[in-house]
Amino acid sequence: MSALAPLKHLVHQRCGLHLEGLAEARLFRAVAALQASTGLTHTSSLVERLTSDRTLFDGFISQLTVNETYFCREPDALNWLVNTHLPQRLAAGKAPLSIFSAGCSSGEEPYSVAMMLYERFGEHAKTLFNISAGDLDHQVLAKARQGIYGGMAFRALSPALKERYFSPHEGRFKLQDTLRQWVNFRPFNLLNAHDSSLQGSFDVILFRNVSIYFDEQTRRRIHQQLSPLLAPKGVLLCGVTETLGNDLGVLELVEAQGVFYFQHPEQTTQPPADLPTVSLPPNANSSENIASAEGIARDKDYSTDAASEMRVSLSALPPEEEAEQFNLQLHHAHQLLNKNAFADADELLQALLQQQPWSIDALVLAGLVARWQHRPHVAYEHFKTAIYVAPECWPAHFYLAELYRQGELTDEPIQRQRSYASVVRLLIASPTANGGLDIIAPPIPPGDARFLAERYLSVVNSALESTNTSQGVR
Ligand SMILES: C[S@@+](CC[C@H](N)C(=O)[O-])C[C@H]1O[C@@H](n2cnc3c(N)ncnc32)[C@H](O)[C@@H]1O
Repeated sequence: MSALAPLKHLVHQRCGLHLEGLAEARLFRAVAALQASTGLTHTSSLVERLTSDRTLFDGFISQLTVNETYFCREPDALNWLVNTHLPQRLAAGKAPLSIFSAGCSSGEEPYSVAMMLYERFGEHAKTLFNISAGDLDHQVLAKARQGIYGGMAFRALSPALKERYFSPHEGRFKLQDTLRQWVNFRPFNLLNAHDSSLQGSFDVILFRNVSIYFDEQTRRRIHQQLSPLLAPKGVLLCGVTETLGNDLGVLELVEAQGVFYFQHPEQTTQPPADLPTVSLPPNANSSENIASAEGIARDKDYSTDAASEMRVSLSALPPEEEAEQFNLQLHHAHQLLNKNAFADADELLQALLQQQPWSIDALVLAGLVARWQHRPHVAYEHFKTAIYVAPECWPAHFYLAELYRQGELTDEPIQRQRSYASVVRLLIASPTANGGLDIIAPPIPPGDARFLAERYLSVVNSALESTNTSQGVR
């Protein structure tokens, strides 16, 4: 048993965080900092101190959480919420409606909802909707309350909304007070959701990009705690790639317009067909102009300063060391991508691709980096090359289709259909295949990729069928 096992146990028991794999590196750093600040070296003394000192424990936890977030993340779900679901609930006579962002990090998620509601309903929005948000991490909550953000937080927000709701502030941007004061932030632990200070029931709970840090048992426990907090007909939304992992039999999975959410089982009636879907106002964000966030887990803890150190000349090394160095650098490039250090990741991957132009791992990573740099044609070339080298590379098929679906490339429905169909075919044949990736893990779990590809395939199939019908093609 590792010397840190009692600390892992304490964190898991209190907060649900599963500190294995990459997360273990965060624990090592947090423990080193704790030892330095307390002068205690033995794990048992550290556990004892953390258990008795609340402030120390909160500071320790802040170093273990992954707070990556940004405005208008996974916009399809937010658009559905603001422009279809909530208007339907209002039309049914329910107001005000309560929205809660569980695991809100530095506030970008609830503020995105606030901005979109304000766009849709104007000032009246504040009387129609209550917005609250909670997080375990006290440090990010302080940041959320300030409402001051730097460049990466805006990477998926339309410039028009940024201009409308933010003003320059000491080299960064501050959110308008109207929206900032609307969202009520509070400390909140998902594991104690039932006995937290949360009042009342929620019509919407956003539980997005949080459950990936929990094991299945913890996720089930959280669903059991969140379930009583959901109002009748309330919806709980998870992140795009988390949907399958949250289908645990506590709440029922429902689909509407390609968006997946959970509801109490007896309430999973589909919305009436005669209520129209309201499209976004001209200035509002749309999924077409926002880069997809799916499948790229990000981690705040990787440092970019090591990027240059890693760029050693591989050709000077003996073959086995060369291979080992190459793999190490690939991992590092993956970490740089996760840290959003796109320029560094790109530079490193270009060097790696010069060494091994046919490395599937490097090609897929380079494609993902190019997507985030808004260079869809470069991304396309990388994914295409990966597929040429390894036709079984389902991640490359998947992300290539996403370039079309998300409007990053001019849509070619037949190409989109072929690519999603390849993902489905490959993953039916081999459900846990790594898609030819030898070094890095697939950026999206195979089960989730298949689930999404099947849904998106059926959407494009229907669209192509109706086009053919209207053109008289038999
Ligand atoms: C990756 S962020 C997701 C932020 C936002 N929901 C989004 O989708 O962009 C995950 C957040 O969950 C919080 N978190 C982790 N464990 C938690 C727990 N047990 N209770 C409440 N929040 C938790 C972390 O502190 C972190 O800020």
